[in-house]
Amino acid sequence: MKLPELKIGDLTARVPIIQGGMGIGISLHKLAGNVAAQGGIGILSTAQIGFQEENFRRAPVKTNLKAIQTQLDKARAIAKEGILGFNVMVACFRYDDVVKHCVEAGADVIISGAGLPMNLPELVGNAKTKIAPIVSSVKATKIILRNWAKKYNRTADFIVIEGPEGGGHLGFKANQIEEAILGMDDEIIQIIAHVKEYEEKFNISIPVIFAGGVWNRSDIAHYLSLGCSGVQMATRFIGTVECDAPDDFKDRFIQANENDIHLTTSPVGLPGRAIDNKFTEIIKNGLADYKAQDAPKTPLIPIASCLNCLQTKLCDRKTIPYCISEALLNSVEHNTDMGLLFSGTNGYRINEITTVKAIFDELTASF
Ligand SMILES: Cc1cc2nc3c(=O)[nH]c(=O)nc-3n(C[C@H](O)[C@H](O)[C@H](O)COP(=O)(O)O)c2cc1C
Repeated sequence: MKLPELKIGDLTARVPIIQGGMGIGISLHKLAGNVAAQGGIGILSTAQIGFQEENFRRAPVKTNLKAIQTQLDKARAIAKEGILGFNVMVACFRYDDVVKHCVEAGADVIISGAGLPMNLPELVGNAKTKIAPIVSSVKATKIILRNWAKKYNRTADFIVIEGPEGGGHLGFKANQIEEAILGMDDEIIQIIAHVKEYEEKFNISIPVIFAGGVWNRSDIAHYLSLGCSGVQMATRFIGTVECDAPDDFKDRFIQANENDIHLTTSPVGLPGRAIDNKFTEIIKNGLADYKAQDAPKTPLIPIASCLNCLQTKLCDRKTIPYCISEALLNSVEHNTDMGLLFSGTNGYRINEITTVKAIFDELTASF
């Protein structure tokens, strides 16, 4: 059996695999470009996308906005005919500007989560860029699609469902994860049924993509059998030469075993999944004391300077437990002990560094 193509409007990906956006600095032009060159969809993370540029620390916001174009152009040079786009988190600082820059840069797709992307259609306007919200429940799907239809008379070009086994921030409370894992297949079926109503209403096809814990061909076959049109995979691509993260970041995955991956608490209030290290230990041990502090609280890890990553209403740098940007930057700037090493549940299955092509060859082999 051959994997089907993934059609999103007038775009056709030869392989129904989207590489999930990974910030900070894990999925930039090299990874996204190489995934797109193999026939999948390559996604660059916009989270502090300009962190390697000279002016980043002095002018992070401006530098990031500029780097959107630079990074996309470099990815296009790798995959001339490929499908490329961005992951933009709703919680990020100046979300509207970031989305608009992605559209102007020529993104084929924008995938947006970490919040409900209520005004995404307005920001993209009539541009050719295809848009997808990230959802974790039928409830969130209903809210977004109802709102987009009512306010903009349009719907999603595709939907990404993020389950509880992925890496990075999760759309579930920590105490709901076990239950969510058991109920995810049912939730997917319900989401697909709900999306069908909008396919009929707008007379278009809205592919539904599943993300979170997808590793091999039988995982892909499973989600296709539930009615998904493709999958989004992130963690598996960390174990490639093309992944934009440095080798010491990738080594942490090679060294990790199954018992080294746990939920941790992000300052944004959402749980995140990461590889255990000195940093997660400090957070785990200090959080009870932090929570017990009377207001105003003081950070667990002092914050040197603000890099304007989150919307101001989501982060008060004087009281937030730690700076999410500094933690993620540490992990890609050779301070992996003090870095937040986001990983899906499968992170320990990376045992060697391979290539994007080898992964695609394995996943697309006919059988
Ligand atoms: C290191 C890492 C960083 C991530 N960063 C982001 C991000 O910036 N924005 C986002 O929406 N999702 C992020 N994710 C989630 C992925 O895009 C993806 O949906 C999820 O990890 C898929 O599950 P998998 O890793 O098991 O394949 C991240 C995941 C990882 C592992």
